[in-house]
Amino acid sequence: MTPIVLTHGGATSVPAQSQDGADLAANTGLTAMTKGGSALDGAVAAVVVLEDDPRFNAGTGSSIRMDGKTIQMDASVHDGVTGDYGAVAAIERVKNPVLVARRVIETPHVLIVGEGATRFARTLGFADYYPDSNTARARFAQVRRVLKGKVSDTISYSTAWQRYDWKKSWNFETGLNEVLGAPDTVGAVARDAEGRYAAAISTGGTSISFLGRVGDVPMYGCGIYAGPDGAVATTGNGEDIIKKLLAKRVYDALAAGTEPQQAVADAIRLFPREVGIGVIAISAKGHGGGGNRGSDPSFRANMSWGVASE
Ligand code: GLY
Repeated sequence: MTPIVLTHGGATSVPAQSQDGADLAANTGLTAMTKGGSALDGAVAAVVVLEDDPRFNAGTGSSIRMDGKTIQMDASVHDGVTGDYGAVAAIERVKNPVLVARRVIETPHVLIVGEGATRFARTLGFADYYPDSNTARARFAQVRRVLKGKVSDTISYSTAWQRYDWKKSWNFETGLNEVLGAPDTVGAVARDAEGRYAAAISTGGTSISFLGRVGDVPMYGCGIYAGPDGAVATTGNGEDIIKKLLAKRVYDALAAGTEPQQAVADAIRLFPREVGIGVIAISAKGHGGGGNRGSDPSFRANMSWGVASE
C-alpha cells in the first residue's frame, strides 16, 4: 500500500501560522518509513518534529502550569499491528515524551506516571531538559489575562474551566499565579508499505489545571487508536475527549467503512462549539482531518494538519 503520514498541530493551531510545521513533521515521518521504518517509526518521528517546534503545545512549547514554572507532559503510542500501547503521564523535564512513551512498550506496563515516568526516562538515558519556551510564556500571559477577566476568551477554553474557582482547591506549593495555555496536542498517524497502521501523540496539557492533571493523551482509546483498519489521533479539551472515548469511536467508524473525512466531521459534530476539537484519521479508504476552531464548515481548513505520501 502507499505509505502515508498525517500530522496535526493541535485543535487551536492556525494554518496561516503553523502549517509548515505540520508539513515538515509529516514529511519527516514519511522519510523514516521510506528508509525502512515501520508505521510506528513514522508516527513517532513525526511527533518528535512537532515536539521540537515551540509553536506547538508539546515537548518544547508545552504549556506552563498555573504556578508559572511547572511543565507536565503526556504522550502515547499505539501500534496497530501488535496492539502494543505505551504511555507516560505528567512526566517532567524531558525533551521528547513520545520517545519515552515508546520505550514503555518494552516494559510489562502500558502507562507510567509522574515522578516514576521521569525517573524511568533518566534510567533509559533521556537527558534532563526543561522544555521552557517563549511561546508557552506568551500563552501563560494570555491565560492570566483571561482568568483575571481582562479579556473574554472564546477560542481556547471551555466556559466550565473559566467558571471554576481554582483557588478553592489549589494544590501547588506556590500560590495561585493565574496563567494559561490551550489544551492542545500534537499527533500523527501513519500507514507503512505493508499496510500497517500506527499512531502517536504528545501534549503539554493545559495551564488551567491542578498539579497532576492528566488529559486524554495517555488514556487508552481516547487520544489515539490504531488497529488493522486504520489509525486516529485527536486533539482538544482532554476531559471532553475522554468522556466520548473519541479515538476509539472514530476508529470504529473507520472499521465499519465510513470514509475518514466523514468520520472526522461526525466526531467533531459530537461537541458543542465552545469545546475545541480536532481529529486526523486514515484507513484503506483514504484520509481526513480538521478541527472546529475556524469558519470552514467542512472543518478541513480550521487546523494545521499535514499529509505526506509517496
Ligand atoms: N488534549 C490534551 C489535553 O487535554 O491534555
